[in-house]
Amino acid sequence: MPLDRRALLSRLGAGLSAGFLLPSFRADAASRLLSAARSAEGRAPSQLARDEVYWSDIARAFDVDRTLVNLNNGGCSPTPAHVLDAMIRDLKFSNEIPVYHMWTVLEPRIESVRRGLAEEFGCDPEEIAIVRNASEAMEILTLGIDLKAGDEVVITNQNYGRMITTWEQRARRDRIVVKQISFPVPPPSAADVVERFRRALTPRTRVIEVTHITNLTGQILPVRDIVRMARERGIEVFVDGAHAFAHFPFKRDELECDYYGTSLHKWLFAPIGTGFLYVRKAKQKKIWPLMAAPGKMDEDIRKYEEIGTHPAANHNAIAVALAFHRGIGAERKAARLRWLRDRWAKALMAADPRVKVLTPLDDVGSCGIGLVHVEGLDTEKLQAFLWDKHRIMTTPIVHDEFNGLRITPNVYTTPEEIDVFVDTMKGVLRKGGV
Ligand SMILES: Cc1ncc(COP(=O)(O)O)c(C=O)c1O
Repeated sequence: MPLDRRALLSRLGAGLSAGFLLPSFRADAASRLLSAARSAEGRAPSQLARDEVYWSDIARAFDVDRTLVNLNNGGCSPTPAHVLDAMIRDLKFSNEIPVYHMWTVLEPRIESVRRGLAEEFGCDPEEIAIVRNASEAMEILTLGIDLKAGDEVVITNQNYGRMITTWEQRARRDRIVVKQISFPVPPPSAADVVERFRRALTPRTRVIEVTHITNLTGQILPVRDIVRMARERGIEVFVDGAHAFAHFPFKRDELECDYYGTSLHKWLFAPIGTGFLYVRKAKQKKIWPLMAAPGKMDEDIRKYEEIGTHPAANHNAIAVALAFHRGIGAERKAARLRWLRDRWAKALMAADPRVKVLTPLDDVGSCGIGLVHVEGLDTEKLQAFLWDKHRIMTTPIVHDEFNGLRITPNVYTTPEEIDVFVDTMKGVLRKGGV
């Protein structure tokens, strides 16, 4: 058996042993992955990144409308067709007799999802709570830690808007002090970011919240260095990984973090309304759940899942999305996303000096997300023009300190679609406006 095929089968097998619902991994989806793996022929991820035979096999797993060019997959990604099918199948099954099929048959399968996510993240399953999104994960942390009036929290002004709002509400309610630091885009170095955090700390600082990769420019931040610096001072670090998990490869131990929240409907391509919260075992007691749980669950990660009636279908289909992700391989996926990023970013920078890419184009500082600013152009008008006239979806980012279009391709994005975007932008640059 060729090596790649064997490797793929063993990855799928690893999913099986982790209890994944392989019957729902449709036969044609598996054969697409197998055929893609065959065409990979043991090549390095960076070489494979430009192989359209391989990536067109992957792309066919998605039922996307090719009359649109979707370059906002970061907001929320489409899920592959077989993942959606698995969810719909389970929704229909639930609907036959929810109190039995949903609660008794399907809900307990959440444990195999927990095991699979824990394996991928590199932690114990007893440290993973399945939640509905990164907002829920991060708000459990923000609102669940005991803080007194006058206690200080340090965040950046590039943290996600809802997370800043949550801290600000906590400040109004409990009179804690929330300090926002700023950093340039892109920052001169990782050490510069760590130093900015360090300068904001005082003896009253209790918590730092940092985004693993910002949603604004796609900057990957030095989480491990921030965690180390904070741990020496007894400060907790909440890591917002909404855009990081399954986007580029990393494990918990590389970050050394105690807390991590993510959405799974972004880069894992799981159904909408899925995420996880990781809390290190020793820290679970100090973080209250958002919705009450009995005292005997104080050190049980499942206390964060006590949310009342909810569909089992959505979170169980995470297992199918995870098997798909493993079938591609995290390194290959990241390499392709970086290749697509470079294709549009380098072409636009070469086309006109007014184009500024505010994301570092390297493997350490970013992956599939990039922010492009065009001097003299109104970002919101440009975004509206691309969508209204060309059906190209991008995200306008307007921050107090910078602005631009955020571009997030996906594994199903074709080079031709990237070129449509680039050519349309070149047309705007030639005209000097929209
Ligand atoms: C950094 C960051 N945190 C949190 C969120 C919230 O994610 P969700 O809307 O899936 O809860 C987002 C969404 O884009 C984000 O980019």
